[in-house]
Order: sequence, then structure tokens, then C-alpha cells
Amino acid sequence: MSVAEIFQTMDYGPAPESAAPAQEWLATHTEGFGHFIGGVWTVAASHFPSTNPANGKVLAQIGQGTDTDIAAAVAAASAALAGWKALGGSQRARFLYALARQVQKHARLFAVLETLDNGKPIRETRDIDIPLVARHFYHHAGWATLLETEYPGYEAVGVCGQIIPWNFPLLMLSWKIAPALAAGCTIVLKPAEFTSLTALLFAQICQEIGLPPGVVNIVTGAGATGAALVAHPDVHKIAFTGSTEVGRQIRQATAGTGKKLTLELGGKSPFIVFEDADLDAAVEGVVDAIWFNQGQVCCAGSRLLVQESIEPRFLAKLKRRMETLRVGDPLDKVTDIGAIVAPIQLTRIDELVRAGVAEGAILFQPVTACPEEGYFYPPTLLTGVSPASRVVQEEIFGPVLVALSFRTPAEAVALANNTPYGLAASLWSESINQCLETAPKLKAGTVWINGTNLFDAAAGFGGYRESGFGREGGKEGLWEYLVASPLPPAQRGDNRGNEGNHYISPVGRGAGGLDQTAKLYIGGKQARPDSGYSRSVLGPGGAHLGEVGEGNRKDIRNAVEASRAASSGWGGASGHNRGQILYYLAENLSYRTAEFAARIAMQTGHDGASEVDAAIAQLFFWAAWADKNEGAIHRTVQKSVVLAMPEPLGVLGIACPTEQPLLGLIQFVAPAIALGNAVIVIPSEVHPLSATDFYQVLETSDVPGGVVNIVTGERDTLMKTLAEHDDVDGVWYVGENASLIERASVGNLKRTWCLKPGALPRHDVFLRTATQVKNIWIPYADELPW
Ligand code: NAI
Ligand code: MG
Repeated sequence: MSVAEIFQTMDYGPAPESAAPAQEWLATHTEGFGHFIGGVWTVAASHFPSTNPANGKVLAQIGQGTDTDIAAAVAAASAALAGWKALGGSQRARFLYALARQVQKHARLFAVLETLDNGKPIRETRDIDIPLVARHFYHHAGWATLLETEYPGYEAVGVCGQIIPWNFPLLMLSWKIAPALAAGCTIVLKPAEFTSLTALLFAQICQEIGLPPGVVNIVTGAGATGAALVAHPDVHKIAFTGSTEVGRQIRQATAGTGKKLTLELGGKSPFIVFEDADLDAAVEGVVDAIWFNQGQVCCAGSRLLVQESIEPRFLAKLKRRMETLRVGDPLDKVTDIGAIVAPIQLTRIDELVRAGVAEGAILFQPVTACPEEGYFYPPTLLTGVSPASRVVQEEIFGPVLVALSFRTPAEAVALANNTPYGLAASLWSESINQCLETAPKLKAGTVWINGTNLFDAAAGFGGYRESGFGREGGKEGLWEYLVASPLPPAQRGDNRGNEGNHYISPVGRGAGGLDQTAKLYIGGKQARPDSGYSRSVLGPGGAHLGEVGEGNRKDIRNAVEASRAASSGWGGASGHNRGQILYYLAENLSYRTAEFAARIAMQTGHDGASEVDAAIAQLFFWAAWADKNEGAIHRTVQKSVVLAMPEPLGVLGIACPTEQPLLGLIQFVAPAIALGNAVIVIPSEVHPLSATDFYQVLETSDVPGGVVNIVTGERDTLMKTLAEHDDVDGVWYVGENASLIERASVGNLKRTWCLKPGALPRHDVFLRTATQVKNIWIPYADELPW
């Protein structure tokens, strides 16, 4: 080829990174890897191969973890726990720091090994994955040092089972291990079966730096190994990243066990381009959104939403750019798109794309050929799709972008949120107003403004809705590895144990044949129960006090509908406004202290006046918090500020404690509504009359209809219906049947908070549980002043 021809094509020559250091390391393990348990390497009972997706060749033999291996690893982690916790944050920080240093020292080996095992381009492992891994350990070394002062009254949750996917093998390991170590937890981690090698190299580093034996244990294997870890009774917390399907299985398996759980699941994240965007920048954004890591990214911008006026121009630019993407040898430094992790994933991508085309999608792929050998898939664009088509709704987890258009910003938001997922969103516009108007309306845990796929240890990451729950990274992520240190038992009324002290009778056959049934309260109106039945309420001596409605499924559905209708207005109101209404509620309740006190005494035989006073104090307390739950600005390494904004969950179902009929309700309802949620409340099953009296206070206190709905009846049955309801975002349950509620919540993976009767968490737990953090990344200054 002549120089003139080279100038014509502007083709790069290959610039391969040497595989030698990784191959030398692998050559020292030809006998096959064992598991890393209690600081030593075991001999695995059997092995399976890990292959290089770029050529299908076997790289190493990986140990297939058994139940016995998991048991041994959990035992080692349990044995190490007390010592690791007692070491204190400052001492633990030294180990985290040492891990960060070692990752940096071996960065090239890690990057090459990761590329060989996973198929992702060396440019990404070298410049993104491995530096971020080191950053994670450094950042959390800092949190370990600051733990005692920044998280006072909290301590390590205990032994953590961590299960990670294959798309960012070492990065996901660091996201899991770094905060757990900082918090003082010990760990059993199971890497994904396709990509165990960098985790095994990491184990070697743990050994080298002298990490106390048993603090980090690594057991390799497939799904069954992960399931054994989830099922182990001595594990206190499970952290999982992977498919929504397995996330659901883990939710089921942990229901009622009291294990703390975080799930980071799939997504179908929107990439929104407004007509006033910098189109060339946005095209580069798309490249990073969907062709980074072959699109095998949980938060990949896989749904392109372009404003209609610029759609043809934008798609033309995009297609031109796609022609220049280089698919090929992942070890070549000029490769943009590497290999797909495994044949099964390649097949899945191919099937979904074919299904899309069969449904009428128009397929565009650039002319550049994929290598013959290995598992490659070209960058792909599907247009002419409808919002309901499979390729628009399902996570493809490959280099496949679907494009839709929208006319107005409102339509963009509606399309963006038209998915059960809620992991991330990217929006592009040169108008700051447009960006800051849109970001709060997107149901996603992370929103990038004029950017995409930005990650940093200082910024929390995690989903809304079926993308899972919990956050990783940032100050908010560390909470997931902490629990409140034991406090003296809360001062609660003693349990009189008179559950079941009621009978059901048809409406109208109550006291004196009069219809004195307290109705349900739905959408700001008193409503007759759908069943037409009521239940008797008895006093401590068995005296008949009155009747309340026997709520059923239909009543719950109506209440959810009313809550949903009220939730955006209430959640969007200023904290100041909500605070005012709570103060007003407190004031109106205080006018009626005597009446409420008498009613409490009548139902429970307790002193009612002190309970009413405590309830009023709670209303004041949460009114004060309504405009003070401030969130944070995260300081990331990128040229961005990240606003960590606590947002209401939306619609919450709340089952109140049995005892303390008024206070038990206010303690849970006040924080929920103060922080912007609309609620469906199931009051005390035994003493419901204070709740039904309370709606008269709601009516006179300017609480908008639908913000608080009250459905009386059989608590666990009604609560199960709420937990199953797909339009409920979270459930809080005080009772003995957590397992029922957590199992029922699996459908839309709603957030659950189950407490034993008598437990009253600290107020900061309410603040975090009533909200979820949205991280909004905003470009900010070329030179950061910090
Ligand atoms: P997966 O969810 O099956 O695997 C993730 C991890 O969970 C692996 O370590 C696996 O061994 C483990 N696992 C599997 N079954 C388990 C069980 N019953 N209990 C405990 N652990 C279990 O994901 P897979 O099969 O590798 O990929 C399938 C699809 O999942 C992909 O096509 C993609 O759509 C999605 N996915 C999403 C990821 C994300 O980051 N959101 C990551 C990986 C996959
Ligand atoms: Mg592999």
C-alpha cells in the first residue's frame, strides 16, 4: 500500500497489547484453580473451563464450588468477623489502601487478563475498568477511616454473600468488596462462571498484602454455587448484580430470613436527544452508551429517543459514525468493540434482533466485517420499532440500539419511563432548563446530563423499580453494609396479646341494629367496604366498641389508584408545603386530645393522653424534616457535579403495629408522607378505631385526597395484596409474617421494610427508607475548584 493510499483510507495498523504476562500467570496454574477460603487455596473437587471469547480457546480450569465449599467459606468468614470488626476503621483502611496500590501495580496484568477472559477491548479494561477498581478501593479506604465519625451508632452487618456478573468482572468485585471491607464485614464472593480469573488474581493479592485469613473468600462456580451462598443461614447480607430473573429468585429465597439484600439488576435505559442538543457530541454519547463493552452493560443507553425534527439528520450522522467503529481483536488497542462473552449470549442477541426484524424493525449494520473466529456481533441499529415491541421492552445486553422518536419533551418523558426498569437515563440538550426540567421526571437511579456511562466510587449507583434496590458507591452505598448498633429496647406499650378478639358480621347488624360502621377512607372520601361486611371492635374486657369495614382486594385496588393519582402532586409539592400540612394535622389533633385519648383507653385500657401527646410530637418532628432531607453533592473524579437527590418512593403500603392504635399509625405514616409519599394504611387490626377517627382530622387539615388512604380489615391479607400490587412502590410492615410480605413483593421487586412488633428504628432509617437517591450528573467546569 502506498503512502497516498494510506492517506486515502486513514486505516490504522494493528497495535496489539501483549498477552504474555497473563499467559505466564495462567501457566503457573495449569493444574486448575481451587477456591480461596480462609486465606488458603483449596483443591477443587471438579473443574470447568474458562475460555477466551475472542477465539474460543480454553484459558484455565476453574473450580466448581460445592455446598461444602460454600459452607467452609462462610465458616471462615464468620470466624474472621469479630477480629476484622474490632480492628477499627483506621486499621482496615490500611488494607484497603494496600489493595488499591496492588491493583495499580498489577494494572497491566489485570487489564490483559480481563480482556482475555471477557472479550472486552483492552482500551476499556486498561483505561476504565482497572483504574476504577483502584479508585474504588482508595475511596473506601477513606470511608473506613471516617466510619466511626460519619456513621455513628452503626456497625458492620456481618458476613456478606456477594454474587457478581461477567460484564465487569473485577469492577463489580471492587464495587462489592470495597464498601464491605470498609464497613467491617467479611465476605464470600462468587464470581460469574464465564469470568473468574481476575477475581482469582485478586485473591492472590489479598494473600500478598496479608489480609487476615477469612476476611475475603472467593468461591468460583455456576448458579448453583451462588444459590448455596444465598441459602446459607450464617450469611447476613446478600449483594447481587445480574439478571432480573435471578434477582427475583434471590428475593424469594431470602424472604423472611432477615438477610439484608441489595439487587442491582437489568435495565433498558433511555438515551434522549432533544432538538437543541449538540448532535455530534450526542452521537459520540450514543457510541459510549451502547457500544461500550459490546453493550453488555446494565445501564447501557439501549433505547435512543430522538426528537422528531432532528431524527433523520441525527440517524444519518449516527450511521456514518457506526461505519467507523472497529470490531475485532480485543487485545488490539485500536479496537472499539470486542467479543461477546459467550456463545449463549451471542445466540440470545441474535434471536432478539431477528425477533425485532420479524416484528417489522429496520436493521442497520455497518459494512465492516466481524472476525471469523470468536463470538462477535456487529454494532446494530433498529429503527421503525414501536414502543411495545419486544426489542424496545426487553434487555438485549448486546451492541444493539433501538431508536424511537418523540415530538414534545412530555412525550420523551412518557416514552423514557415506559419500561418496568429504572436504572439510568441520559439526556442531551444545550438548554440547561430542558435538562433540569427533565431529569427529575425520569424514573431512574442515575441521570447523566450531556454524558453517559460515567461511574465513580463517590457517586451512588442503583435502580428504581425492577432494576433493583439499594445503592453501590458513595456515602449512600455504605449504608447497605451497616446496621444500627443495638440500642436499649424502645419504650413501647406492652403487648396485651388480644389479637383475634373480633368477629365478622354483616353491616348493619352492629350495636343496636344501627349502622355505626366506620367506613374506609379512600381518595379523601369515606367509602363503604366492597364486601359489604364489617368487623366488630372489642374493648379489653370484651365489650363491643363499634365496627369497622372489612376491606378486601377491591378496596385495596381503589386505594392504590387513589394514591397513585395523588402521589405526583404530593411528591412534587415543596417540602415546605408538606411541612405546613403536617403542622396543621398536629394542631388539629391536639384540639381533640381528650376525645382521642378516651378512644385509645377504651380500646386498649391504656393511658390514652400520653399516646396522643407522643403522636402529636411525631407529627411535629416529621413536619420539621419535610424540607430538610437534603441529599448531597458528590465529588467525583470526572468534570461533573453529581446531585444525590432523595426522591419519594411514590406509593407506599403500610401495615401498622397492633398496639398503640394512634401512635403506631402516626409513627409510620408521618415520615412517609412528610418525605413525599402517598400511602395506603392498614391500621391496627385489633384497635382500628383511632385510625378511622383520624381521617376526620385528615379531612380538616388540607391533606389532599388520596395522600393517606385507610383500609381496615385483616392486616396480613390486605398487606399481601398490597405487596403483590404492581403499582405499589414499597411496603412497610410491622408484624410477624415478613416472609409472606417479602415473597409477595417479588413481582415488581418493590422495596420492602419488615419490622418485628416493638421495633422502632432511628429516624435516619426512616429518612432513607422513605426515599431513594437519584444521582444526577451535571457537567461542571473544566477545572474543578476542589
Ligand atoms: P445471571 O443473573 O444468571 O448471572 C449473574 C450471577 O448470578 C452469576 O454469578 C451467576 O452464576 C449467578 N447466579 C445464577 N443463578 C443464580 C441463583 N439461582 N442464585 C444465585 N446466584 C445465581 O446472568 P447470566 O445468565 O449470566 O446472563 C443472562 C442475562 O442477564 C443477560 O443476557 C443479561 O440480560 C442479564 N444480565 C444483566 C447484568 C446486569 O449487570 N444487570 C449482568 C449479567 C447479566
Ligand atoms: Mg471467560
